[in-house]
Amino acid sequence: MNLAERPRRNRRTSSLRALVRETSLSASNLVWPMFVQEGDSSETPISSMPGQSRLGIAKLVERAREAHALGVGGVALFPALTDALKDPRGSESTNASGLLPRAIRALKEAVPELLVITDVALDPYSSDGHDGVLIDGVIDNDITLPILAAMAVTQARAGADVVAPSDMMDGRVGAIRTALDEAGFTHVAICSYCVKYASAFYGPFREALDSAPRSGDKKTYQMDPANQRECLREIRADEAEGADWLMVKPGLPYADVVRLVREHSALPVAVYHVSGEFAMLKAAAERGWIDYDRALIESLLCLRRAGADIIFTYAALEAARLLKGR
Ligand code: PBG
Repeated sequence: MNLAERPRRNRRTSSLRALVRETSLSASNLVWPMFVQEGDSSETPISSMPGQSRLGIAKLVERAREAHALGVGGVALFPALTDALKDPRGSESTNASGLLPRAIRALKEAVPELLVITDVALDPYSSDGHDGVLIDGVIDNDITLPILAAMAVTQARAGADVVAPSDMMDGRVGAIRTALDEAGFTHVAICSYCVKYASAFYGPFREALDSAPRSGDKKTYQMDPANQRECLREIRADEAEGADWLMVKPGLPYADVVRLVREHSALPVAVYHVSGEFAMLKAAAERGWIDYDRALIESLLCLRRAGADIIFTYAALEAARLLKGR
């Protein structure tokens, strides 16, 4: 028996534990992804994401104000469009008076200090439900790039602080950076979904936006969950093309990837605690199988420990309230 080392001494009281705690979690680390729809004060709950809804612009502003008051770091916006507005090239994505630009302007007017992040990808606008343009059943990378670039400029013009390409086309960060700079938006940052996997955990999100691919899957552009080394290529490309943040997605099952990106880049690392992860916590809690509040805070803390600076989570408001109460 060798008891010269007694690690338990540092765990004896809560003030001791607080002093030696290695990782912190605060509301300012969190980004709340929100879904916007037509109908100013409309609200449509998303059944697989308890507590989350598609919101009309007035409601969106109201909830975003609440998030800001709680110290949440920012909001990320996703538009839910009717099928009538969707086409194969996602034309609606560059409409300056479309749903998303109107939502951005309303938010920026009401809560100017709140950081607004917008998604750049075709899927909410595409009649094919893919992130890129589908031609004869194949995603055309290079035809997609100028569309993404124009979409990002449309969002920047409406007031977005950060544009977040989630489409996984090759070369899109560079195409977006060039277009933003040419249009005078050198100050608008790019959060690249650098390492985004072809994951089953996006199910509830696709229900929320009715954006599931109408045919096939996303495996020719999103990454294979089996791969880790491949991340190094994505990091290198995104850094060279001018990304400001690197995102890993999904979150908890990919904590090793968060750590890898943290160790191979000096850029801020974001992670997306995705819809399926949120739904699992809610479902288990509904059955009384886990303590939701504790499991939530632990999940987010673990993502911070893995190396994430920024966490996108649907539970941002709930977490901010819990953190305040402690
Ligand atoms: C698509 C996009 C997806 C998510 C964010 N942007 C889904 C997909 O790739 O099919 C998923 C987010 C989540 O599940 O919470 N551009």
